[in-house]
Formats: sequence, C-alpha cells, structure tokens
Amino acid sequence: MEKNDAFEIFVVTTPGLESVLCAEMKAAGFPQPKPVKGGVVTRGDWRQVWRANLMLRGATRVLARIGSFRALHLAQLDKRARKFPWADFLRPDVPVRVDASCTNSKIYHAGAAAQRIARAITEELGAPVTEDAELVVKARIDDDLCTFSIDTSGESLHKRGHKEAVNKAPMRETLASLFLRQCGYEGKEPVVDPMCGSGTFVIEAAEMAAGLHPGRARSFAFEKLAGFDAAAWHALRDHARSIVPDVRFYGSDRDAGAVKMSGENAERAGVAGWTDFRHHAISDLTPPEGPPGLVIVNPPYGGRIGDTKQLYGLYGALGKVLLTRFKGWRVGIITNEPALARVTELPFLPVSGPVLHGGIKVALYRTNPLG
Ligand SMILES: C[S@@+](CC[C@H](N)C(=O)[O-])C[C@H]1O[C@@H](n2cnc3c(N)ncnc32)[C@H](O)[C@@H]1O
Repeated sequence: MEKNDAFEIFVVTTPGLESVLCAEMKAAGFPQPKPVKGGVVTRGDWRQVWRANLMLRGATRVLARIGSFRALHLAQLDKRARKFPWADFLRPDVPVRVDASCTNSKIYHAGAAAQRIARAITEELGAPVTEDAELVVKARIDDDLCTFSIDTSGESLHKRGHKEAVNKAPMRETLASLFLRQCGYEGKEPVVDPMCGSGTFVIEAAEMAAGLHPGRARSFAFEKLAGFDAAAWHALRDHARSIVPDVRFYGSDRDAGAVKMSGENAERAGVAGWTDFRHHAISDLTPPEGPPGLVIVNPPYGGRIGDTKQLYGLYGALGKVLLTRFKGWRVGIITNEPALARVTELPFLPVSGPVLHGGIKVALYRTNPLG
C-alpha cells in the first residue's frame, strides 16, 4: 500500500449510535461514511485516519484495514502472514500485540491464529510481540478471509487527554457528545447540566462551540507506525483555529467536590472562559440570562447509586423545575429506568433503542422546546 493509497477505515462507536456518528462524519467531510454494526466505514489515506482520531467526538477508536487474504488452514495463514508487507506499517523497534477472532471459518482457534501471526511479525519484521504492547494488530478471520487492521488510536478516544478528575458514574465523553448531537446540539446555543458531576456535557458542549478538536491534547498509536510523518501530523493538529463562542455553558451539582472538579476539568480543557459551574441543588436551578438552549442531564441511575424508589422524588423535582422555569428550552435526560423518565412528566419524543454505558442500559429521553 502506497503512502497516499486509500484503504478502508472502520470507526468504532457505541453500538446503537452508529447513525449519529455517521452524521458527524458526513458533516466533517469523510467520504461516503456508512453505518454498520458497531461503527462506521469510510475510505481514505493516513491523513484521513489522523483526522478521524483528531476530530471525531463520537468515535471510540479508529481502525485502519491494511490488507486481507484467504486462509483455509493454519499453515496457509502462517505462510501468507509471513509474506504480508509488515514493514510498510510496523516498526521493528515498536512492540505490538495481536488480537484475533474467527467466525464462520475453517480456522476456528483464535489463539492459534494470533500465535501464527505474532510469530510471522517477530520473525519476518523483528518487532517484539508482547501482551501489554500499546500498538495492536487485529486479525479478523471471517468466512475464511483474514483481514488485518491496525488500531490507530491506542487508548480509547473518550480519553481526551485533559480530564483528570472524575466523579461517581461519569458519562464517557464520546457518549456525551453523541447524546448532545442526538439532541440537535450543533455548538450554537447555551447548554445547562444541573447535575453536572465532573462536567462532561458542559465541557464537551463548550469545546464543540469553540471548535476545539477532542484529540488536540493526546497522543495516538499511529504516531508509532512506520513512515509516520510527524511534521505533517503536527501541521494538521495545530492548523485548527478555535473561536470564542458567543453563548455560555452552565453546570451545577449539589456536590461541592463535583463542582470544583468540573471547574478544574474545564480549566485543563481550555474552556473555563465560557463555562460557569455552581454549587446548588436542582431546587435552586434557574435558567441563565439570554436565549434558551438545551438542558442535558444524567441524574443518578436507578439500581446503581442509591435506591430507585428514592429517585422518584428527585426525578419528579427535576421535571417540575424544568416545566415551570425553562420555557423554550429543549431537554435531554439520560437514564436507565423508563419509569424514572416518566415521573418527570416532561413531554418526551419517541425514544430510540437503549445503549450500554458502563454495563448499564441507558436511553436518551428528548423533548422539543418546552411550552
Ligand atoms: C450520574 S452523576 C452525573 C455524571 C456527570 N454527567 C458526569 O459526566 O460526571 C449524577 C450527579 O447528580 C448529582 N445530584 C444528585 N442529586 C442532586 C440534586 N438534588 N441536585 C443537584 N445535583 C444532584 C450528583 O451529585 C451527581 O454528581
């Protein structure tokens, strides 16, 4: 594969939200993105891989599909893996890990397949293969076709690189950005999270409004690949121009520690100038001055923190405050219990399928502007 050749790029996301990521990719100019189970497929060269890692807020990781061949048995896999042009992608001095999976294939033992591929890489290229390597080669053997991908992200992309402090049950940044998008948020209106925890929604919304790329402050596995052009990457990363948003982003929480944490996270993210975090309970929440926008909140979930029955009062109070004080605002509530959502008495639109967050099935309940 030549440096500028296009190949398939698979962008992994939270299952159930593939179409939301697809819309984000379309808006960001990725060619013909197509939602498939667990992610979105597009095509491009290494520059597109860099862009995907740098810019896509809803992406969990970015896989570059570097080649495939048929393999009907382990000896054939061994032979073809040895002939694979590893040196085009991997460096002999950078350790790699090999993950393999087999479905509908004559080769059914994933461990044995991974071992053959690992041996081919070590013996043909010289790169050490270790269990704890940061760089991962994925081999998927499906219908006797073995496809190699490189995980170009490394650490999951929800790690933006600037959030050190997390409270209980934090929302993952990737998921928060997808929920913001599902609520129709495009970075142009104020956002309020009255149970902000470590400030994830508020900071994500502020970054989107400011045009700050989510990957601007972190490193990626692709920096360790053969032929990586550091100067071109730095030029791409540093090219983005952020703007000062003309709306503000508000978080509050009854937990003083959470409020402090949110402020520190916003500071590290470089959005403290446009965010406002206050310490108060939902009962003291009032809309900020200025135009209406979006209230987005994930209150404590039933069955995880505290008892579901005790939460009825909290959700009821949240609904009342929003219905009486937030006319003209849209609302998005993320919760795991439909009964808790119902208790708010908010006029929710039809709900799309649940998604998994930290092992819990949650759904987004959205409204139109409140009347
Ligand atoms: C699931 S966490 C939110 C996590 C947050 N989205 C994040 O990403 O870190 C729920 C939050 O609701 C807050 N909370 C619970 N009851 C509250 C109340 N009555 N008023 C304000 N905040 C409350 C808790 O302190 C907690 O931080």
